[in-house]
Amino acid sequence: MAQSQPNQLSVLEGDTYEIFAQLRESSPVLHLPEDGVYVVTRYDDIVTVIRDHERFSSQHHDILQPVPEHLHERLPDGYLVTIPTLVTNDPPAHTRVRKLAQKALTPSAVATYEPEIRRIAGALIDRFDGSPRAEVIGGFANPLPTHVLSSLLGIAEQDRRQFELWAHGVMQLMVPTIPDQQRLELAEQQAEFRDYVLRVLDERTRDPGEDLISGLILAEEAGEPALTHTEISGIVTQLITAGVESTTAGIGITLMMLAAHPDAMDRAIEDPRAIPTVVEEALRRMAPARGVLRETTCEVELGGQVIPPRARVFALLASANHDASRFECPHRFDIGRDAAELRQSLAFGQGTHFCLGAVLARLEIRTAVELLLERFGRFTIPTDQDIPWNSSLVFQGPLRLELEAEPR
Ligand code: HEM
Repeated sequence: MAQSQPNQLSVLEGDTYEIFAQLRESSPVLHLPEDGVYVVTRYDDIVTVIRDHERFSSQHHDILQPVPEHLHERLPDGYLVTIPTLVTNDPPAHTRVRKLAQKALTPSAVATYEPEIRRIAGALIDRFDGSPRAEVIGGFANPLPTHVLSSLLGIAEQDRRQFELWAHGVMQLMVPTIPDQQRLELAEQQAEFRDYVLRVLDERTRDPGEDLISGLILAEEAGEPALTHTEISGIVTQLITAGVESTTAGIGITLMMLAAHPDAMDRAIEDPRAIPTVVEEALRRMAPARGVLRETTCEVELGGQVIPPRARVFALLASANHDASRFECPHRFDIGRDAAELRQSLAFGQGTHFCLGAVLARLEIRTAVELLLERFGRFTIPTDQDIPWNSSLVFQGPLRLELEAEPR
């Protein structure tokens, strides 16, 4: 069992998990009228919310401001991210898209990407240039998933920088507090992004390759119409919004967990086969996607609370993963946890919308941790740094993190 060391982790977490525990006990479905949202904190209630798409819909269209009028012609389906494909869609329409999209991300397809992921991660680590101290979020955990995605999508080398700027723009656009002028600029960029993706789709339709975009074009399912180019452009955009910030956070969180639990770090160094369990337990202990949003389609009674129709419901996965009805001593980071218990983790959701990129995310985080441990050996997190925290509604994780190699 891993021993917990006092470190920045407990400072950063503050009493968050204590508050979640109190809510699970006394107000498991908390209404926050000023935010117009119902927050669900118990494991079983959260499973109900994420599995019951008939009463808890994923079609919440108001995550973004409307497209400015002068761009209606260039963005005829709205912003690509809101095209009803995966995250913002419900069965039965979701079922068809999901069946087709997951053909491009099967475990065997993802396994073929491993050498490329290792190459990209290795090249980023080389930039640390042998220094014993390195900032690993901006310099590593952040660029890694974006580089991986642009490579897997088969974006031409000369377009990657621009593609990654567009990808960043998609995520920026989802920040509710950005100033109007910036919102306008980002909207213009989204129109350029759409033009670009549709052009790539035309090229790949004529001349398909081994990449993920070609996989989406070629995906077939008996009796189902193939994915349209509009749908694929929406899926590509959702891969960015769902798969980049989350993976960055997952890498950051796993590194912090290792630094806080030196015996787990020793284990991972001695036997890299232990790393997948380290990653899984880290994502359980601190879910990078802290919660998911749904909207009620009718009046629902849940956890003793009556929720009206068309109300927003925020299912706090981070709280579910600390529910003592499912996890023994849930606050403890324990890589010896029973496998069946650990499988209950909701870090990647469950049911209809279970993370489409879970296999890829696990591979990226495992590779990142493995290569960083090879490069640094045992490391600590120096205490002379501030660790700014990503505390957006959905994601949590360090935005900046310096590691220091212990003398070997
Ligand atoms: C540590 C990293 C990640 C975490 C913690 C994570 C977490 C999640 C969660 C909790 C959901 C469920 C959303 C819901 O129920 O509304 C989800 C869905 C999804 N994720 Fe991930 N994710 C990660 C990485 C990725 C990656 C790398 C990709 C792809 C590049 C990806 C693509 C998706 C997509 C497309 C969906 C929507 C699936 C659907 O609606 O059918 N995710 N993810």
